[in-house]
Amino acid sequence: MNMVQASAPGKCILFGEHAVVYGQPAVAVAIDQRMAVNIEVSEDWKIDGLRFSPHKHPHVEALKQRLWANGPSLSIKVIGTIPAASGLGSSAALSVAASAALRCARGRQIKDDDWSEGWTASRPNGVYEGPWSADKGDEIYNGAKAVDEDECAILAHAVEAAAQGGKASPIDSSTCAHGGCIVLSNKIEKDLNWLYSRNLNDVSWEVHSVELPESMEDVWLVIGNTGIRAPTAEQVAIVARTLESEPERMLEIETIGIIARRGISALMNGDMEGVGRAMSENHLLLRNLGVSCPELENLIAAAAPSSLGVKLTGAGGGGCMIALTRDARATSEAIELAGGRTLISRLGAHGLEVDSEADSPLWNPFE
Ligand code: MEV
Repeated sequence: MNMVQASAPGKCILFGEHAVVYGQPAVAVAIDQRMAVNIEVSEDWKIDGLRFSPHKHPHVEALKQRLWANGPSLSIKVIGTIPAASGLGSSAALSVAASAALRCARGRQIKDDDWSEGWTASRPNGVYEGPWSADKGDEIYNGAKAVDEDECAILAHAVEAAAQGGKASPIDSSTCAHGGCIVLSNKIEKDLNWLYSRNLNDVSWEVHSVELPESMEDVWLVIGNTGIRAPTAEQVAIVARTLESEPERMLEIETIGIIARRGISALMNGDMEGVGRAMSENHLLLRNLGVSCPELENLIAAAAPSSLGVKLTGAGGGGCMIALTRDARATSEAIELAGGRTLISRLGAHGLEVDSEADSPLWNPFE
C-alpha cells in the first residue's frame, strides 16, 4: 500500500511554561508517549475515516495549506497515546508528525545543488549538512531524506502560534521534533548545544539541546492527568490579561526564569534533588499566576511525599501534573488513589521518526 507514516513524541515541561512565552528560559523533555500520522492518497479528504473538517483540525489544515496546496486528496489517520489538551504536547507532536508525513509524501525539489524550499535556520558553523543523510542526485529527494527536523519544528511552531493567537513559544514544537531535552533561553548558553534562534512577534528564543546526565537513569516522570481538558490558548490568554491589568506581575514571570536557570544548573550537575526542588518552587509561582486548579493541586499533594519535585506541566487549568520520582510505583499509586490517571515515562525520549515511507513521494508538485 502506498502509505507514509511519521511519528513524534509528546513533551513535559520541567521548568518555565508561560514565562517562556515572554522570553524567559524553559526546559522540556520528550516523553515515551507518541503521536503518529499516517497518510495515503484517497478519493476524498478524510481523517480517521470521517470527512475532513478544517474547522475541527486547524493544525492539519494549516499544514495542508503550506505543504500540500493543490495536492491530491488524502486519507489521514492519527494514532496516538497522548491525551489531547492535557499539557503533554499532543498538538505539537501531531503537527510535527503531520509535517514530516506530508514532506515525505511530496519530496523536495533541489535547485542549484541546494534545497529549493529551505526552511532551516543556519547552523552555528554556518554549514547545513542536509536532512538525514541526504543523497543528492534526483530533482525530488525521495521519502524520508527530504524530511528535516528543523523544518518540521518551524512549521509546527507556526501553526501552534496561529492557534494561540500569536502567543506561542517554540518549546513544544522543538521538543517534539528533536526529542531528548530542549532548553530555550534569551541568550546563547555556552555550556549547551545551540541549535537555532526563533523569533515571533518581537520575542526571540535561542533553542538548545542538552545531553541528560547519567543520574537521570534512576528517576522517572509520573504524569498525573486530571481528565480536565484545558486548551493552551485560553490559559495563555489568562496570563496575558493578568499581565496587562497588573504589569508589575512581570516580576513573577522573571522569577520563574530565575528558578528555571537554577533548575538547568541542577540538571547539568546531575543533582536530581535540586531539579525536584526547582520544579516544586516553579509550581508555587504558576499557582500564584492563576493557572493551577483544585484538581491539579489535589494530585500534586498526593504525589509530593514520594517525589523529588512536583508541578503542573504545560498550560495548566486542568490537564496534567508531573512528579519527578525514584519510586514510580508508589507515586503512581498515590496519584491514582487521589483520582488521577497516570502515565509513566523516562526523561528524554527520541524525537521525530519516519516510520514508513513506502514508495514516497506520493505527489510531485513540480510535474
Ligand atoms: C504550553 O505547553 C506551554 C506554554 O508556555 C505555551 C507556550 O510556550 O507556547 C503555556
